[in-house]
Amino acid sequence: MGLDLGGTNFRVLHVKLKNGVVVSQKFNNYDVDTETRQGEGTALFDFLADCVSDFAHKEGVADKVLTLGFTFSFPMHQKSLHNGILTQWTKSFSATGVIGHDVVVMLQEALERRGDVNVRVNAILNDTTGTLLQGCAMDQRTRVGLILGTGSNAAYLERADRVCHWESERHGEKEIVIDIEWGAFGDNGTIDFCKSHFDRQLDNGSLHINSFSFEKYISGLYLGELVRIVLLHLANNRLLFNGILSKKIQVKDSFLSSYVSRIEKDTVDTQSHETESILQQFDLTYNDDDVNVLKYVCELISLRASLLVSACCARLLKQMDKPDVTFAVDGSVFKFHPRYRKWMEIFIGLLAPNYKFQLLLAEDGSGKGAAIASAIASRLEKTYH
Ligand code: GLC
Repeated sequence: MGLDLGGTNFRVLHVKLKNGVVVSQKFNNYDVDTETRQGEGTALFDFLADCVSDFAHKEGVADKVLTLGFTFSFPMHQKSLHNGILTQWTKSFSATGVIGHDVVVMLQEALERRGDVNVRVNAILNDTTGTLLQGCAMDQRTRVGLILGTGSNAAYLERADRVCHWESERHGEKEIVIDIEWGAFGDNGTIDFCKSHFDRQLDNGSLHINSFSFEKYISGLYLGELVRIVLLHLANNRLLFNGILSKKIQVKDSFLSSYVSRIEKDTVDTQSHETESILQQFDLTYNDDDVNVLKYVCELISLRASLLVSACCARLLKQMDKPDVTFAVDGSVFKFHPRYRKWMEIFIGLLAPNYKFQLLLAEDGSGKGAAIASAIASRLEKTYH
């Protein structure tokens, strides 16, 4: 089984693998409401266990002995494949009593409290690692798992001799998966030089202020809100909507990143008319100039995001120094923004001109990757114990 927590959807999967490749899968999405995300930690894990049980019963596998891979898309200390200590919450999670704890233990205990399924959590991983695993199953040149969704981050294969934290050489590993957590880049002030007052306003209104600075420039949880902040500023200066704002547009987080993707679609496809329908949805009165300004703001914010992500990808190519590298990518921004991918291909090419690379969509890599990791862990257990 796989469990995927951290993005827009919380998902439970039951996957069948053959030779490391997913041959069939069933899944269910569950909504994790704000109260559960930001309330008591044990209640969050009880909810996860409820969903595992609900799914296992619906699938008719509740009486089977199953192993589960847990994709937990937050920064953690990992001392082994089956332990992960949360170091800090990111995105829209802040449940109490979890930081500093092993989330595998918390999930296993919650499953045991329910007591109606026979599921053993035997692997924990980040969504970037899951995407890397799924990417490897699709294309053996894959060396990076990249997420461009609610959050943004990447994991890559690093040479073991370069990793000073690496403690276990038991199995003679030559390469190690490093979860970069690049969302936290700039938390020490290093990228303040390119922070605009719009970015500062966004940060001040966010759940984790002064934290995950880089992610706030680039990921789906923030792109729409950034556009909204710019629109309010322009209207308040009578440069947009004749200076008149509707109630709806003044609601924080009301402008979703999916709207940015839809507006961008209008710029690339003359048959598409998304911008006006979004403006109407917000009860805004507009003219042609307003439409063009909104499109321009969405373009600038998306372009900046894709350039910043590309700079990281180019740096990774240089770090790995391999002749041909595939980036397995997943996440709503990459999937639905009509030109993010194209821009990335151009920018990475410009920033790392001597390296061959390709971007590969590894859909639901984080969910499938969890199941693959669990299967690998089971096999390792049999081999080494
Ligand atoms: C956040 C998390 C990171 C995750 C990323 C994408 O940056 O800290 O662990 O990989 O979001 O979901």
